[in-house]
Amino acid sequence: MEENPSHLYLDLLVKILANTIYGDAPVDQWSGGHYDSEKRRLGHDWPGVAHTMIGLERLRHLRGLCERILDEQIPGDFIETGVWRGGACILMRAVLKAYGIEDRDVILADSFQGLPPPDPAHYPRDEGDQHHTFHQLAVSVEQVRENFRRYDLLDEKCIFLEGFFKDTLHRVADRTFALLRLDGDMYESTIQVLSTLYPRLSPLGFVVVDDYGNIEACRAAVHDYIDQNKLNVTIQPIDGCGVWWRKEGDKSSRAVHASPRRSRSEDQYAMYVLRSSLAQARQDLSSAQQRHGILVDELAGVRAQQQSISAALQASQQEKEQLQKASQQEREQLQKASQQEREQLQKDLQSERELSQQLRNEFSREVKSAEALLARYAALEQRTAALDARAQILDRTLRVVFVKRNDLHSRFKSLRDRFVEADVLHQFAEETYAVVNSMSRTAPVGEVVSMWRDALGLLGPGSEGGAVGNTLRSVLSPRTRGVRLGREVLSIAVSGLFSPRWYLERNPDVTKSDIPAIVHYLRHGGFEKRDPSPLFSSELYMQRYRDVREANVNPLVHYMLHGLAEQRKIAPSVDRRT
Ligand SMILES: C[S@@+](CC[C@H](N)C(=O)[O-])C[C@H]1O[C@@H](n2cnc3c(N)ncnc32)[C@H](O)[C@@H]1O
Repeated sequence: MEENPSHLYLDLLVKILANTIYGDAPVDQWSGGHYDSEKRRLGHDWPGVAHTMIGLERLRHLRGLCERILDEQIPGDFIETGVWRGGACILMRAVLKAYGIEDRDVILADSFQGLPPPDPAHYPRDEGDQHHTFHQLAVSVEQVRENFRRYDLLDEKCIFLEGFFKDTLHRVADRTFALLRLDGDMYESTIQVLSTLYPRLSPLGFVVVDDYGNIEACRAAVHDYIDQNKLNVTIQPIDGCGVWWRKEGDKSSRAVHASPRRSRSEDQYAMYVLRSSLAQARQDLSSAQQRHGILVDELAGVRAQQQSISAALQASQQEKEQLQKASQQEREQLQKASQQEREQLQKDLQSERELSQQLRNEFSREVKSAEALLARYAALEQRTAALDARAQILDRTLRVVFVKRNDLHSRFKSLRDRFVEADVLHQFAEETYAVVNSMSRTAPVGEVVSMWRDALGLLGPGSEGGAVGNTLRSVLSPRTRGVRLGREVLSIAVSGLFSPRWYLERNPDVTKSDIPAIVHYLRHGGFEKRDPSPLFSSELYMQRYRDVREANVNPLVHYMLHGLAEQRKIAPSVDRRT
């Protein structure tokens, strides 16, 4: 096998495009997220990283078709309708570059935003199609350009036809194509490409339909087109999913071009393909042998595992028997202990019952005595309430009695005072009467007056002697003399200047009170400037004599004790000297 660099480059590129070297996890919903080399070989998963999902077999087949086109010098460009991440187109561009072909373009037709929603009105076969909902199928044109750039294959030979096929394909309908690669999944996306571009396919040009084997709508579109156009073509399988056929044409009519592949004959190319297949088969055989070796090892391991499991089973059986024996013994012991415990419990229960009966009796006795106590307590409460009520009544009565007692007490006190006063007055009156009697018996009125003057002089401070004085002194008891009131009353009584009747007529308020007229005048009237008789003006006397006012003494008393001796004036028209 001739292993020149171009072949090696393309061999390696195919593996890189399918990423069988690193084996990335798929992103579809059916592969379980694990890389599976068989699925990747047949293009049955949606890789997470690889730049194409068509798998190794279809990639290798595509490379072969491209090389045949170059060998057979079939004129025209290469186009893929439905490029996803662009991997298949990268391979087409790489084949052209590897063989130095510059007069062919690679056209990439895609919406670069996923599949269109179904249009059942025009394409009933697509009804219910869900491809447009898979976001994994939408890859932007920038991303695809970037992928080309990473392989150093992005140049003016790559034509990007961006948009849905129905809107874009007519723009390349003036070109000639050597290869139509259809990978649009739906009926619509397949039939539109065939209708628009199949007429532009060179005779003996190739058609590849990627989803023929696994999408019924796609297969129907192929057959509808072939039938409608009565094409005489042979559909050939690639890997159980993709198919290809060749357009009718006359081989002998093809022109011969000068290119690196133009010097190779078809037989040489067939030989190359056979050698490649042989090498692949050898590789597959060696990996199958490796897998056989691994399986033999695994079988030995399984056998060893089986032996250890049966040994463990035997040990476990013995252990089980021992456990059963131990369990039997334990059960018997437990039964015995349980029997003893039950008997003890029955005894305990009986004594508990008896105790309980005793307690019940005691309790009923206690209940009865508690009831009696409660009855007594209720009666006591009633009595307490009655006593409370009586206590309240007594309390109120006591308060009334107390008030009455205080009242009586104060009345008694005032009566006692008045009694004492009356007693004194009585005594004074008797004494006065005795004095006046004795004086009137012993002397005429004029003398009586002068005798009184003398007597009062004797009674006043610093006065001594005189017959009347002696008489007075003799009639006045020591007790009376010591009492100022007595002296003052006496002085007024004997003055001849106090008329009780006149005083009472002029002062009705005194009449209403219980106070004797003379005592009233002595204590109050004189100070209030009331006159004792028409003969004496209390007001005049007090006005005229400052010492009387300052001494705060009854004016008539003062007169009798001092004024008379000093010959003071007692009334506007009365002068005692006259
Ligand atoms: C299964 S993927 C193609 C896989 C690709 N050939 C590869 O090598 O991995 C289908 C692609 O077709 C495109 N496609 C399907 N129908 C289309 C339509 N009617 N117009 C434009 N693009 C369409 C989608 O955008 C998507 O990128």
